[in-house]
Amino acid sequence: ASGATRASSQVPATADSAFVRAARGGPVPHTPVWFMRQAGRSLPEYRKVREGIPMLESCRRPELVAEITLQPVRRHGVDAAIFFSDIVVPIAAAGIDLEIVAGTGPVIAEPVRTAADVERLRPITIDDVSFVDQAVRLLTAELGATPLIGFAGAPFTLASYLIEGGPSRTYTRTKAMMYGAPDLWNALLDRLADITLEFLRVQVAAGVSAVQLFDSWAGALSEADYRRHVLPHSRKVLSGLAGAGVPRIHFGVGTALLLGAMGEAGADVVGVDWRTPLDVAVTQIGAGKAVQGNLDPAVLFAPWPVVEQHVRRILDEGRAAPGHVFNLGHGVLPDTDPDVLTRVVELVHTVSAR
Ligand code: CP3
Repeated sequence: ASGATRASSQVPATADSAFVRAARGGPVPHTPVWFMRQAGRSLPEYRKVREGIPMLESCRRPELVAEITLQPVRRHGVDAAIFFSDIVVPIAAAGIDLEIVAGTGPVIAEPVRTAADVERLRPITIDDVSFVDQAVRLLTAELGATPLIGFAGAPFTLASYLIEGGPSRTYTRTKAMMYGAPDLWNALLDRLADITLEFLRVQVAAGVSAVQLFDSWAGALSEADYRRHVLPHSRKVLSGLAGAGVPRIHFGVGTALLLGAMGEAGADVVGVDWRTPLDVAVTQIGAGKAVQGNLDPAVLFAPWPVVEQHVRRILDEGRAAPGHVFNLGHGVLPDTDPDVLTRVVELVHTVSAR
């Protein structure tokens, strides 16, 4: 970054960026675009710097985090950077023994099943995640006017990993606790909400321009169960950031029937997967909130004219919302050709130029 950029960073130019404006439902020069999981295995430069360094360890090295976060910004010209970390970083900092296994995801050494297990999750402070504070500060200095998005996992999605011990398709043990031991369930999700909120507050204090709460697996629930057992805990996190001055994005997969409730939990922007057209999503979310999404990540493997048709359709459908942040409907798949992502960024910018 130039000296001028650093000097002006106290009055963040990011507030004027297309991304922050769209997230607030304001006028934009073009529709902003970034991709969930844009930093990661689709990039050869990522695989190179990660060589021999375990995932969790790489999240704890601020210089490396900054480099990986910047890689997709340099390569694709996206309108925002997403902080390189993982949803399980704060729960590891809270005392849970876990690993991120390549090709599998988070694996918990001793799954959380009892009240004594819940007690093992202690509150975190900035000292437990000082590497995050440092990395965000490095990044905001480098990024200048390009916004940095902070993130965390939502209480339900984190609980599903903690209770199952790893990824799951049926969430059997998670739901067994939710239905069968509501006091234990609420105690666990309340602790997770506190940890998540503190983790996001550290990122906001260090300078991120927006936050995204990932409730990736909330789509496993009915709307009634979501509202009763999950929404109050996500609301604790999102309402705790209401005065923080940064837009809050709330995202999950398979949430066609939960979009209204996820907005009510306290989001400024609701992330939508590819199953729900954005104009339909807007009718469910209600007026006043921006939307983010929602290209099927698998479409990136189709011939370019097909990709182009989908991008144009999504830009059309996104006009129904007061603001639209273009994104995928879920994360970039590891085998994706990065050149296709770069072409999507160019296309979104050209087609949407006002
Ligand atoms: O580019 C970005 O979006 C920023 C980095 C990021 C990672 N994880 C890095 C990562 C973000 C935002 C996440 C969030 C995350 N992690 C979520 C929510 C988003 C979603 O996809 O729904 C979830 C559910 C996790 C848990 C997790 N961590 C999974 C399911 C996996 C993938 C397992 C695999 O290897 O297929 C991880 C590991 C992980 N997180 C990797 C990366 C780059 C792969 C690690 C590697 O490169 O070896």
